[in-house]
Amino acid sequence: MNFCIAGGRLVDPSIGLDKPGDIYIQDDVIEAIRAEGFSMGEIPNGDTERVEVSGALVVPGLIDLHVHFRDPGFCYKEDMTTGCASAAAGGFTTVCMMPNLKPITDTPQLVAALGARAEGIRALPIGSVTMGQKGAEITDAAGMKAAGACAISEDGRSVMDGAVMLRAMEAAAKADMPVFDHTEDDSLAGTSMGETVIAVRDMLFAKETGCRLHLCHISCKLCLDAIRAAKATGLPVTAETGPHYFMFDKSRATHGHFKMNPPLRNVEDVQAVIEAIKDGTLDAIATDHAPHSAGEKLCEYNKAMNGVIGLETSFPVSYTALVRRGHIDLNRLIELMSTNPARILKDRSRGTLKVGAAADIVVFDIATPYVIDPSTFKSKGRNTPFEGMEVYGKTLLTISGGRIAYRA
Ligand code: DOR
Ligand code: ZN
Ligand code: ZN
Repeated sequence: MNFCIAGGRLVDPSIGLDKPGDIYIQDDVIEAIRAEGFSMGEIPNGDTERVEVSGALVVPGLIDLHVHFRDPGFCYKEDMTTGCASAAAGGFTTVCMMPNLKPITDTPQLVAALGARAEGIRALPIGSVTMGQKGAEITDAAGMKAAGACAISEDGRSVMDGAVMLRAMEAAAKADMPVFDHTEDDSLAGTSMGETVIAVRDMLFAKETGCRLHLCHISCKLCLDAIRAAKATGLPVTAETGPHYFMFDKSRATHGHFKMNPPLRNVEDVQAVIEAIKDGTLDAIATDHAPHSAGEKLCEYNKAMNGVIGLETSFPVSYTALVRRGHIDLNRLIELMSTNPARILKDRSRGTLKVGAAADIVVFDIATPYVIDPSTFKSKGRNTPFEGMEVYGKTLLTISGGRIAYRA
């Protein structure tokens, strides 16, 4: 099937495009773009469905570097089907699945089995850094990469033994595989210092090994200042934050739906996250989509599990809070949610609308406000801190690999 996505506002920072125009898809690739004063590629002939999206925003499929799909092991929270449906509904065509499953994704066989189960969108496995995430014996990074893993990560915790982490990063460097780093010193758990100490340690290891280091869910000023300083020396480290960290401070952390790890921080930290989004210290917005059941979240706050869902709110919340409030422009938002994540994955055919790229395209309505209603989510999770928020940026259409993965 061929498509012509007609009349939208095409925004793609990777080719400097921000114009009204049409995109032609043939099979699973972008065949042509035609905009006012801008034309690339051959217009396909034959059987083409024309989809009128006039006035809507058309961008490269979003990429989430950090999700928890809970399958296998915890399917009462989420499973592959609902996780992929939730991603498609949020405009994501690629997501990276953390390995804290049961069994933990720690072998090439488990990576291959998990990767084969993605539905409708691309859901890429991330292998663990150590066997069973026990922190002692490193995994086969090269073997897991060959089986389809996009990165290694110990998410949920840090590898506390520095010598083990250094060896894992050497192996990752050799396999040309990024390390997605949950940074938290056990003895300082939940503090800004704990986040920063491990981030700094692992940036030193990255310098030593040449490993591609990507820092997960950065939430505090102390750590952002350290990353900014490291980047100024030329270290090719990258970092993500999540929407909850630029939306809320710790005064909200009284309800289970506002509990996650790292936790919500001080007002100054929230401001520092926004500043780092603006100045490039942060490279990506990732959700850390972490579904839990109602019983695990709507209990006494101290007993509630860590984690919030995010796939179906990340774009609208980010667009509303960052772009509409004037902190960044739309191009920068697409950079944070698609262009840069593709670069971090070294995926040259995604995060872009250029001719020949994968036909991963999403269409958003950014003109009509709506109220976030968790009962409409495709995810099994209802643990969102954004319930009731009025936002702009409803997904109208998600095309992944040339096929419709979601249509409103
Ligand atoms: O809030 C969190 N939830 N932080 C993590 O590090 C793990 C995640 C989960 O798996 O629920
Ligand atoms: Zn984490
Ligand atoms: Zn996580």
